[in-house]
Amino acid sequence: MRPFDGRRVLLGVTGGIAAYKSATLARELTLAGAEVDVVLTRSAREFVGAVTFEALTGRPVHDQLVAAGHALDHIRLPRTADIIVVAPATADFIARAAAGRADDLLAASLLAAGKAPVLIVPSMNDRMWAHTQVQQNTARLRAIGYHVLDPETGPLASREEGSGPGRMPEPAAIRAHIARLLEPTSVLGGKHMVVSAGPTREALDPVRFLSNQSTGKMGVALAAAAWRRGATVTLVAGPLGVDAPTGPRLVAVETTQEMADAVRDALETADALIMAAAPADFRPQAVAKQKMKKRAAAPAIALEFTTDILRATRDARRPGCVIVGFALETEDLEASAQAKLEAKSLDLVVANRVGADSGFGADTNRVTLLGRDGRRDELPLLGKDEVADAILDRVAGLFHGR
Ligand code: CTP
Repeated sequence: MRPFDGRRVLLGVTGGIAAYKSATLARELTLAGAEVDVVLTRSAREFVGAVTFEALTGRPVHDQLVAAGHALDHIRLPRTADIIVVAPATADFIARAAAGRADDLLAASLLAAGKAPVLIVPSMNDRMWAHTQVQQNTARLRAIGYHVLDPETGPLASREEGSGPGRMPEPAAIRAHIARLLEPTSVLGGKHMVVSAGPTREALDPVRFLSNQSTGKMGVALAAAAWRRGATVTLVAGPLGVDAPTGPRLVAVETTQEMADAVRDALETADALIMAAAPADFRPQAVAKQKMKKRAAAPAIALEFTTDILRATRDARRPGCVIVGFALETEDLEASAQAKLEAKSLDLVVANRVGADSGFGADTNRVTLLGRDGRRDELPLLGKDEVADAILDRVAGLFHGR
């Protein structure tokens, strides 16, 4: 099963330089299972040809409001779509949509749309985006109920480094937003989920640190899946070995103490905390000011415990906050996990086997979920995305019971 199987996306492309990125978006959505109907405006065709989109989607491309045999496309296309996406949306298109114009197939399609969500992805020069006219038109689209993706800051087509936002987000980020809008309303919708991920680092000297092999894959998968289900997500992460996900607010930390402080802050409004991070448990008692040199004898390094984040932030939990911990073990997996469930006052512990295909760095994971209520779910070897979904299903069940 692919993530977009059975989904129909109406992808409107207007005449901006970023239209080339929409070809990638159309291809990714198609490969992920979606049926993508592309509608090009007249100026979009100056940037990318219909043939490109036809080849990538395997479907005819539409660009005429009035054409023999296609007179009702502007009614049929939006009605059969599960979502309407306009990417890139130029300043001109935003103005036409805000004014309720129906002077081409894409603008008319928006007016004929039924319940399908509409995602507008503006892309233009940063000065144009900042203009009051564009901002007011965009505010109008939001007021109508359209979802508008804020443009990013970065290099613009004019080869000036954009000093403000204007640049279209990358196809992967747009795709993540589409997935979120297509997700059915879930128990996690509107909840604030705090997820920790990755290792932390404890400095020995200015160039060395103690850490572990965590890459953050499991925590990032959890944060991405929770956001896709409609939650507001804070991802507190040590140095990640994978890309941070689209959607969650990232709080980047280095040490276990910084992670503890960030988790404490986030708990103030949290409905759930999932501690998937592998914080360093020890740190050097003293950090050398200068790089440690090779001397006659290797230095002995005295260590001390860092803060245990789950224990130390217990007092910051709001009543009813669902707490999930991990127990990554090489031996006595379930007994150790059970002990952590109690010692750290968890609602759920994810007993995580360490092996070649499971644990740090792997794309798959082998876990057993142990609940405070005594429920035990032993999951087969699964992709970390699937494990994330199983954990979130359990968390959703715990919300139900509160
Ligand atoms: N954890 C934490 N603070 C730490 C270390 C770990 O909050 N300083 C959290 C982890 O994120 C995980 C859970 O506690 O959710 C269990 O982590 P684990 O490393 O398995 O257990 P430890 O408490 O460190 O115990 P031990 O290393 O002795 O197994």
